[in-house]
Amino acid sequence: MNIGIDRIDFYTPNQYVDLVDLAKRRDVDPDKFTIGIGQEKMGLPLISQDAVTMAAMAADKILDEATKKDIELLIIGTESGVDESKAASLFVRDLIGLPKTVRAFEIKEACYGATAGIQMAYNFVAQNPEKSALVISSDIARYGLNTPGEVTQGAGAVAMLIKAEPKILALQNDSVFMSENVGDFWRPTFSKYAFARGKFSNEVYIRFFDELYDAYFEKNNTTIDDLSAILFHIPYSKMGKKALQSVENKVDEAKYHELMQRYESSILLSKSIGNLYTGSLYLGLISYLENAEDLKTDDQIMLFSYGSGSMGEIFTGKLQPGYKENLNQEQHLKELAERRKLSVDEYETEFKKEIEIVDGDWFIGNLTNEKYYLEQIKENERIYKSL
Ligand code: CAA
Repeated sequence: MNIGIDRIDFYTPNQYVDLVDLAKRRDVDPDKFTIGIGQEKMGLPLISQDAVTMAAMAADKILDEATKKDIELLIIGTESGVDESKAASLFVRDLIGLPKTVRAFEIKEACYGATAGIQMAYNFVAQNPEKSALVISSDIARYGLNTPGEVTQGAGAVAMLIKAEPKILALQNDSVFMSENVGDFWRPTFSKYAFARGKFSNEVYIRFFDELYDAYFEKNNTTIDDLSAILFHIPYSKMGKKALQSVENKVDEAKYHELMQRYESSILLSKSIGNLYTGSLYLGLISYLENAEDLKTDDQIMLFSYGSGSMGEIFTGKLQPGYKENLNQEQHLKELAERRKLSVDEYETEFKKEIEIVDGDWFIGNLTNEKYYLEQIKENERIYKSL
């Protein structure tokens, strides 16, 4: 029985910051951001949008009433949780109307959370082949104004339906993984923003990839020639490229060229949206499937998942017949083109906005006219609404 991704889609907020504008304001050569970092735009949520509303917006795009009935597992991977106790999944289950008979919880391990969710979902479907699992990654990447990480911010969610005989990608149950206690990137409970040892985090990321790359082929007794592409967690598009460059001396020239060319297809969405933290790898998968040319059924794609702190995993999936009919490229291009460009002043104002609770209450209403939104905080409790 094949198990894997049957449906996949993403949501990103309807406003963005142009990184050339940001570079000019920060007195930086724009080429540093667009070439050196490899990013063009970053999505920015409004104060009424958070990990819950973005997850619900993404899930809505892949679900219909018939699909909802079979879902028995809902996992949200996020490092932008809205509550130290209650899982985002409980709000989301309610908003999108999943049955009560759903096991719903949240997973945190930096940008690795959704991958942990997918692996749990895989095991769940293996034991319950008639049922399916909904895994959603949802995050707001925030480093703060005027920080080195500022240009690598972003926001959004990716929703994936995991089931038997999937229409898009059959996972191969061939993972290799590793974990270490590393201080490369973290966000303590007392801070709204992440802290990063930027250069060190790049080194750890590449080291994890290198070790897992070798371990993968050793464990599975295969070679790079069995794979058609390597997709990466993309905190910014230059990062995955740096990791891919590290295999140059391990593969022949033609294969290296092919992998590099395919990598370029996988970063198009991220360049225009920014870092989704745990969703970035899967946004890269959508970008790859929508933009790469000459893809074929049974192409085997390697995915490198990395969560700072640190946890890494490499696994693969095989492309399923008719995968293309289950993607939505035209809609994505339209949504991205219709986003509102914020000036740097508007971005900074929005960025500094705080939820100001007075006697346990705060009211904002629907700022976005989107289907799901945080309407208010009442008696210290978040109240979400749907149009
Ligand atoms: N034209 C073209 N390129 C230029 C340039 C110019 N005018 N000026 C500089 N560059 C290039 C530099 O040569 C450099 O390229 P290489 O990396 O290939 O050498 C690149 O632009 C970046 O320049 P700096 O290294 O000087 O950049 P920086 O010190 O401002 O910081 C950063 C870069 C460390 C990535 C920083 O943005 C950061 O801290 N980001 C957050 C941490 C991060 O994303 N880490 C990734 C691994 S951790 C992870 O993956 C988890 C996660 O999601 C966070």
